[in-house]
Amino acid sequence: MKPEFIRNFSIIAHIDHGKSTLADQLLLKSGAIDERTYQAQILDDLDVERERGITVKARAVAIKYPYKGQIYQLNFIDTPGHVDFHYEVSRSLAACEGALLVVDAFQGVQAQTVANAYAAIEAGLEIIPVINKIDLPVTRIEEVCEEIENVIGLDASNALRVSAKAGIGIEDCIEAIIQRIPAPKGLPDAQLRALVFDSKYDDYRGVVTYIRVVDGTIRKKDRIRFMRGATVHEVIELGQFCPFMETVEELGPGQAGYLITGVKVLGNIHVGDTVTLQGNPASEPLPGYKQPKQMVFCGMYPIDATDFEKLRFELDKMLLNDASFSFAPETSDALGFGFRCGFLGMLHMEIIQQRLEKEADVDLIQTAPNVTYQLLKRTGELVTIDNPAEVPDSGSIDEFREPIARVTFILPTASMGTIMQLCSDRRGEYKSTEFLGRDRAQLVYEMPLAEIIYDMHDKLKSITRGYGTMDYEVVGFKAADLVKLDILVKGNLVEALATIVHRQSAERRGRALVKKLKEEIPRHQFEVPIQAAIGSRVIARETIQALRKNVTAKCYGGDISRKRKLLQKQKEGKKRMKQFGEVEIPQKAFLSVLEAG
Ligand code: GTP
Repeated sequence: MKPEFIRNFSIIAHIDHGKSTLADQLLLKSGAIDERTYQAQILDDLDVERERGITVKARAVAIKYPYKGQIYQLNFIDTPGHVDFHYEVSRSLAACEGALLVVDAFQGVQAQTVANAYAAIEAGLEIIPVINKIDLPVTRIEEVCEEIENVIGLDASNALRVSAKAGIGIEDCIEAIIQRIPAPKGLPDAQLRALVFDSKYDDYRGVVTYIRVVDGTIRKKDRIRFMRGATVHEVIELGQFCPFMETVEELGPGQAGYLITGVKVLGNIHVGDTVTLQGNPASEPLPGYKQPKQMVFCGMYPIDATDFEKLRFELDKMLLNDASFSFAPETSDALGFGFRCGFLGMLHMEIIQQRLEKEADVDLIQTAPNVTYQLLKRTGELVTIDNPAEVPDSGSIDEFREPIARVTFILPTASMGTIMQLCSDRRGEYKSTEFLGRDRAQLVYEMPLAEIIYDMHDKLKSITRGYGTMDYEVVGFKAADLVKLDILVKGNLVEALATIVHRQSAERRGRALVKKLKEEIPRHQFEVPIQAAIGSRVIARETIQALRKNVTAKCYGGDISRKRKLLQKQKEGKKRMKQFGEVEIPQKAFLSVLEAG
């Protein structure tokens, strides 16, 4: 297909403003799917996505649309909205010439609207503002257009007005895409350069690699080379998602699709790599992507030690489908062999953990998450640590540094005072305020990442009754008075429960944590003291009283089958627990750290 009849674009928006619903409508109106196969958010096909109603993975789909006597091919990428998945968005943008910026007609410009729009502007894309949900009983269309102009600096005079849910204005939207978004450049006869923008593992067919052709043409049976991976393969299958997989004979400049080489070895294919022809290779690879920095880490251990290798394979598979996560083997005295995993944020961590348990069927113990820290040692050496267990004794540390993020809030002016108080309680440094209209403002703070990621979003939502949104990015590291808070359970140090906290809040956090642990750890047949300590100094203590629990005591007489059932139930209850000395600690206890703010 000639590049002049191709358009590549992303759909970007703040969470829940209707990207996936608009994507559904584009599929429906172009005839790619019919009313019968239509199901809401058809592209969100991961279990976790359907359960939570959010997009986690970007999807690339090709649709055909007749316009002025020509058939156009529109390739679009539906992207996630949540801040944790920003990396998915920036990768998608690199594969496009334009973007639809979807903005809710009532909620208006929100934190991720701004972040995603800036990313698209930076990538040099043509942006079409789309005001969605015009069917809502109350809308603020004119004000929302003003916000787009004032906050983002885009001309909103020709913003489209649609209702993705009711199917209003969709044809206009498609025509605007054809008219306003530039066609891809690139020559069909040039040396092949195709960007690997995603991949996934299929149990039957091996690795499926998603590519966008920039120059040249790729054909079935071609011998191709991954320039970075330096491996050579034959293209067994080439195709596009329309939205289901459909094979094609070739893909030319500007086209996006997938290729299958039959490779089953994980680790050979890298997102951001360039595909070229073995026989006529390009001299330079495409620029690729900036590696994302994982900021949240936790340990993941199989409950059943024999699942270790299985977990490694599943993590490799996950890495193929999600290049923004990382893992490395680690051992813990109490938990045995497992992996230290890195994530872009808390939601990302939750999603990966849930995907592993669902898709991979491995039961996991996940340790308390923490952010990364830097340590300047007395020797002058600067080390980055992603596990509180690695903190050496304070004598050898010259400076303890924590990550600092720039947080942008968009919120009703009525809530500003409360949020500003919250930020200053959390060691935030005020930066700026900008009023967006009569009753909304943008507030910027710089504050420690650890004070944001656990519960700031929830706090913001409850203070603003759902009307406030936030976005953040890490801007650097800063020295702070930090200490390692240890937890001892019945006298034993449980490394997996250790956290790093600011000295000022250590006592409060310690007290809250032991209290929470008291609720989460079941009673045993002996007393279980739980202590929080800094070095050898105990700063908080709770005791779980002893209990003599006999689950079968209730069954008088000899109903043996009922007795068995009860014992079985008790066994299952134990499944997600780990033994620390004599004490069993359930999975939930490890996450207490999150709630004990
Ligand atoms: P994420 O993928 O999680 O970032 O969300 P999204 O932007 O893809 O939003 P999604 O399409 O999942 O829609 C969010 C909610 O808004 C759903 O409940 C939709 O039914 C609803 N919605 C989407 N478009 C419209 C619309 O035009 N009108 C109305 N009234 N509701 C809409």
